[in-house]
Amino acid sequence: MMKQKIIQHTIDFVKETLAVSESGHDWWHIYRVHKSAVKIAQNETGADLFVVELGALLHDIADSKFHAGNEEIGPQIAHNFLSTLNVEPSVIEQVVSIIKNISFKHSFTAEEKKSLELQIIQDADRLDAIGAIGIARAFSYGGYKMREMYNPEIKPVQYTCSDDYKKNTAPTINHFYEKLLLLKDQINTAYGRKLAIKRHKYMEEYLKHFYAEWEGEI
Ligand code: ADP
Ligand code: NI
Repeated sequence: MMKQKIIQHTIDFVKETLAVSESGHDWWHIYRVHKSAVKIAQNETGADLFVVELGALLHDIADSKFHAGNEEIGPQIAHNFLSTLNVEPSVIEQVVSIIKNISFKHSFTAEEKKSLELQIIQDADRLDAIGAIGIARAFSYGGYKMREMYNPEIKPVQYTCSDDYKKNTAPTINHFYEKLLLLKDQINTAYGRKLAIKRHKYMEEYLKHFYAEWEGEI
């Protein structure tokens, strides 16, 4: 099967699979990550665009947060799906490895050497968590989890292990300090970093306004 056809089948499969998912992890998250990943790949030499596209499209096919913490389901679904399209085993292997390694949780464990394709998709995924979209996703996720938006009495903390991070129920504003504002320093590629810096500044500006409005100052 032609690569373009495989991409199209994958798009259809992901849309269908994510048809019922909260808005931070829906098809449109995948759409944005796919676009950004292609853009970053075009600015990096040596990336396999086919692997980047498949990895971006399938990276959240079964997020462990929504599958009782099971981290094996996503890679398994991707493996089965790509096998039915007779995708080359070496490509499948790369995509499965990307899905296994992409999550933020993994940054708590020592990072082994990441493939360029993984670095690109990870950047695209992190970019979607910051800036205007990142703000929207955070509050959307917070609403889904019935969290407070902000509570001046609950201070942000630095998570040092992924279990505590996963268990936390803090207000959504805390998530900016616990994750979102840390992301720009975890970007792998030069082009990704350029975009991340812009989006980071926008979030800082947003937070300034948020606190000022909270106190009725502006
Ligand atoms: P991804 O699925 O992109 O790998 P996550 O699953 O960690 O990343 O988070 C998905 C989205 O939900 C991100 O935009 C993230 O900021 C948001 N999110 C995750 N945890 C929280 C939280 N505790 N409070 C607010 N937003 C959150
Ligand atoms: Ni994602």
